Amino acid sequence: MVSRVIPVEAFDLVIFGGTGDLARRKILPGLFRRFCAGQMPAESRIVGAARSQMDGAKYREFVAEAIAEFGGKVASDAEKLAAFLQQLDYVPIDARGVGGWEELADKVKGRKFVRAFYFSVAPGLFGDLAERLHHYGLSDKASRIVVEKPFGRDLATAQTLNASLAEHFNEDQIYRIDHYLGKETVQNLMAVRFGNMLFEPLWNSQYVDHIQITVAETVGVGTRGEYYDKSGAMRDMVQNHLMQLLCLIAMEPPAKFEPGAVRDEKLKVIRALDPVEPHHIVRGQYLSDDEDPSYREGVNDPRSKTESYVAMKVGISNWRWAGTPFYLRTGKKLAERASEITVVFKELNHSIFDDDEGGHRNVLSIRLQPNEGITLGVTIKEPGPGGMRLIDVPLDMSFAEALGDAGGDPPDAYERLIMDVIRGNQTLFMRGDEVEAAWEWTDPIINGWTERGDVPKSYESGSDGPGDAATMLARDGRSWRAIKT
Ligand code: BG6
Repeated sequence: MVSRVIPVEAFDLVIFGGTGDLARRKILPGLFRRFCAGQMPAESRIVGAARSQMDGAKYREFVAEAIAEFGGKVASDAEKLAAFLQQLDYVPIDARGVGGWEELADKVKGRKFVRAFYFSVAPGLFGDLAERLHHYGLSDKASRIVVEKPFGRDLATAQTLNASLAEHFNEDQIYRIDHYLGKETVQNLMAVRFGNMLFEPLWNSQYVDHIQITVAETVGVGTRGEYYDKSGAMRDMVQNHLMQLLCLIAMEPPAKFEPGAVRDEKLKVIRALDPVEPHHIVRGQYLSDDEDPSYREGVNDPRSKTESYVAMKVGISNWRWAGTPFYLRTGKKLAERASEITVVFKELNHSIFDDDEGGHRNVLSIRLQPNEGITLGVTIKEPGPGGMRLIDVPLDMSFAEALGDAGGDPPDAYERLIMDVIRGNQTLFMRGDEVEAAWEWTDPIINGWTERGDVPKSYESGSDGPGDAATMLARDGRSWRAIKT
């Protein structure tokens, strides 16, 4: 079995912030990999646009270096790289002024291809870019814009951002990226749920005891301290990535796998979320270890009250989920890099086996990264004579093993999402109302911390987070899954 590459139309892609970190690490190497996979027709063009004064030749050198560093296996194919670079150009641009705009307009106007503008810049510039694209005649129906998170820092700022984009672009031209939606295994959540008969009939509060969503990282804030200390885990991870995972695991089956239907169902989940009680949240900050300074040292504020870890119990008030808690947690400097969604089913209501002590549950774990795969815990008889003693064993399916070569190296989230922009498929992008609804739920939680002067608990680097998170589940008679790959 060989994985299929679906052709895309020729396109012009302008990357604002074309010399920035995201462009260097993800966007440009990702585009090169798509080029190698045959998904960049010869007429297509990529135009970097940024403040730096350089010409096309210098930009191509910059891109070649980025690909050498971050391109992966294909980076060594000199012939392909030379051909790819031929399709690249650069325009120095002043996002808030007039410099460069005529030149950019000349380069892309009048070409009959899909036209996308990637705003890989600070959100403070989104409105200026949208306004200038309009002024220079580049906001017509052929144009799409791609915007990155953070999409606002609360409901009010998200509304302002949405309004500034909506002045010049229709919702169907706006692609808000949450890179978690581009991850292969995150999409697999939908395949597992809606492509199998097995799970969906049990996917409700009658059969599911609780669900855990864990996104654990081993890295600290690194060089991003200034940004991160103004955000914290709640804004940086929960409002977007974990919220999207929660939506995909909890939503009703959409009538079709198409943008409107999927996004409508996700929105309904967010709108059904209960407010979170303060005693259902634990926040933490990591301490130093041999490799890294503590969180507070890292962000250069000995009194910082921003969380690098958050765990919470969330309820969904709808027919399907009322009574089933969702436990969410994410943090930096934890024991392992491991992201997993675990569906813990209820215990049997009656056991026919006298010898058995009970307590068995089916547990479905969907490992998002690394070692993507699914494990289903089932109960069987312990081998050997002497009665019916039951044990729980895992039915383990690693996607890499099951798919062999056909699994290949799945495209990076950004590659997939950029190709979806070119195809005009918004299914894996966040709609404006979804983002606003997520902030509407998040805001009171964050405001509560500020009003109460809440200080996060310290936790050891390399641990599972603050002990209070375990206590929170123990109060419910439950425990977190171990953080392991
Ligand atoms: C980003 C956050 O959106 O996601 C980072 O800003 C975080 O703080 C990253 O490290 C995690 O992404 P991934 O793909 O490595 O799980």
